Amino acid sequence: MTDNAREILVTSALPYANGPIHIGHLVEYIQTDIWARFQRMRGHRCYYVCADDAHGTPIMLRARQEGITPEQLIEETSKSHQADFSDFAILFDNYHSTHSDENRHYAELIFERNKAAGHIHARTIVQAYDPEERMFLPDRFIKGECPKCGAAEQYGDNCEVCGATYAPTELKNAYSAVSGAKPIEKESEHLFFKLGDFEDMLKRWTHAGHLQKEVANKLDEWFEAGLQEWDISRDAPYFGFEIPGYPGKYFYVWLDAPIGYMASFRNLCDRTGMDFDAWWREDSDTELYHFIGKDIIYFHALFWPAMLSGADFRTPTAIYSHGFLTVDGQKMSKSRGTFIKARTYLDHLNPEYLRYYFAAKLGAGVDDIDLNLEDFAQRVNSDLVGKVVNIASRCAGFIRKRFDGKLADRLDDPALFQSFVDASEQIAELYEKRAFSRAVREIMALADKANQYIDDKKPWVIAKEAGREAELHAACSMGIELFRVLMIWLRPILPATAARAETFLKVPELSWADAATPLLGHEIAKFKPLMTRVEKDRIDAMIEASKEDLVSTENAAKSAPEAVDTPAAIEPIADTIAFDDFAKIDLRVARIANAEHVEDADKLLRLTLDLGGEQRNVFAGIKSAYKPEDLIGKMTVMVANLAPRKMRFGVSEGMVLAAGPGGEDLWILEPHAGARPGMRVK
Ligand code: 2FM
Ligand code: ZN
Repeated sequence: MTDNAREILVTSALPYANGPIHIGHLVEYIQTDIWARFQRMRGHRCYYVCADDAHGTPIMLRARQEGITPEQLIEETSKSHQADFSDFAILFDNYHSTHSDENRHYAELIFERNKAAGHIHARTIVQAYDPEERMFLPDRFIKGECPKCGAAEQYGDNCEVCGATYAPTELKNAYSAVSGAKPIEKESEHLFFKLGDFEDMLKRWTHAGHLQKEVANKLDEWFEAGLQEWDISRDAPYFGFEIPGYPGKYFYVWLDAPIGYMASFRNLCDRTGMDFDAWWREDSDTELYHFIGKDIIYFHALFWPAMLSGADFRTPTAIYSHGFLTVDGQKMSKSRGTFIKARTYLDHLNPEYLRYYFAAKLGAGVDDIDLNLEDFAQRVNSDLVGKVVNIASRCAGFIRKRFDGKLADRLDDPALFQSFVDASEQIAELYEKRAFSRAVREIMALADKANQYIDDKKPWVIAKEAGREAELHAACSMGIELFRVLMIWLRPILPATAARAETFLKVPELSWADAATPLLGHEIAKFKPLMTRVEKDRIDAMIEASKEDLVSTENAAKSAPEAVDTPAAIEPIADTIAFDDFAKIDLRVARIANAEHVEDADKLLRLTLDLGGEQRNVFAGIKSAYKPEDLIGKMTVMVANLAPRKMRFGVSEGMVLAAGPGGEDLWILEPHAGARPGMRVK
């Protein structure tokens, strides 16, 4: 730790605990992780914490739909999130949950302090209510026909066909996405946070260097529109924290989500003996940074600083927003296979390729970034494999074979080495301001210089000529010295490759300051390939597998929208599939040989389907519409070539075709009387 070491706390947005991490999420975690690793390499004390965002209606419903408790769901999801992050070398100092004691404590404290200061008030509002499920419906759980263009199955806040925005009450033939029932209007008392109380403070704060320029300007539009008070309560049934003094009322998920940053850090402090208050008290001189997507700026740049200041806590040093990810110029799409889960990527490709590609594309602004798959392969191969790793592989063999693995005692070209050292601070500045793409460009320009040096020296030629040993030694040593400096600069982006380089160079963990000191006379190890080329067929296989992921998820999930309360996170189901894809579906007549309840499952029945000689076990989400005994003996139609899918209750070996809005109104397809089990359906 140097004298001028800074104390930095960094966060990424907390992922919802009801879905897998995908490459769209990874832009942010990779961006934050690179920045945090860079700070640590500079000798600063930098902590990076995160957590699962575990509360809210979608999580409650998803758990119900899977026949498990929300606690079970969030526990399992947390495990899989953490495995994904760790395999992408996202290095958290702590990973916690918003469904934790620490979070309850700080949510209550922040609420109580704001309430005592007069920033909370209660008022009765009218909301859509599902009389069948006996619950209030968030906008995203009301569907119906678009009031503007008439498109069917649109969500309660905007139309994905014509783009119109509206109130859920304007939808035609509205129905609950949970039960299919027609929503009624019902009154309820809610608690509101008076954001307007903080108008002056926020106007100052948003223009005091805590936000990117374009973000601050965007916020001005919101100020002009007027700050609305914010509904921070939800009625039971809800998965969250009950509000003290308000039985049956829960904190809205977005109230306790950012508080999760504090909770995770508190948990870290308790484990390590650090002083939480020193970081969070109003006059703390530590630094606090939140990396987020541009869709959640409102929550982080308005509500969050207001809530913190209303509760006498410090506000963030800065909030850094980034844009969305597109793949090959388009929104990620399940049917195109570009909705790529972190795990699917990991099954096929090296995570450091993606870390590098994102770094090479990321700037400090909020522009969207595009993952162009062809460019991805080309860039990784030509930059990392062709330029950087190549320097080491061109020089290492000679050092090992001809000089006992020892580098020369002096630099062959001190001026060239010095030009690298001189670039080091400038590259650091680029990292500091998150101009990663520019940092990468600089680093690659210097890698070109190193390769040029080797091309000029031609060690492979000198090696064959007698009496030129010293020259050969000098040139190859110089190459390795330059390679080491390049690896220092790339280490925040490529931690695993850098670790392999450290083993090869026989050096401890590289830090930024090490760049200035060459290895002179140092013994290095045998060279092993540090990174292999991206193969196109691996990318193709990943895309194919992502298409398959779609089939197996749909086999399990029915009816409830999959994601969250914020519209931006939901992908419209607007893509068409090619006829060829449709033609792959093998539909067969099946006889329901048996049907039974599944213990602990709310929606599923276990069916034994007879395909005329073959029996299949299938879990079908039709319990709300059929009694098992009424199904036995019926003929139906199933997708017979669906890949088997492991579910909590066993393996499901196909899917039964059923349609309807849900609840009791769900009908399995019943073929005509002449149909026989196993018959192909055309
Ligand atoms: O938008 C989302 O995915 C939220 N789960 C992010 C929460 S960030 C923070 F506030 F917790
Ligand atoms: Zn419309």
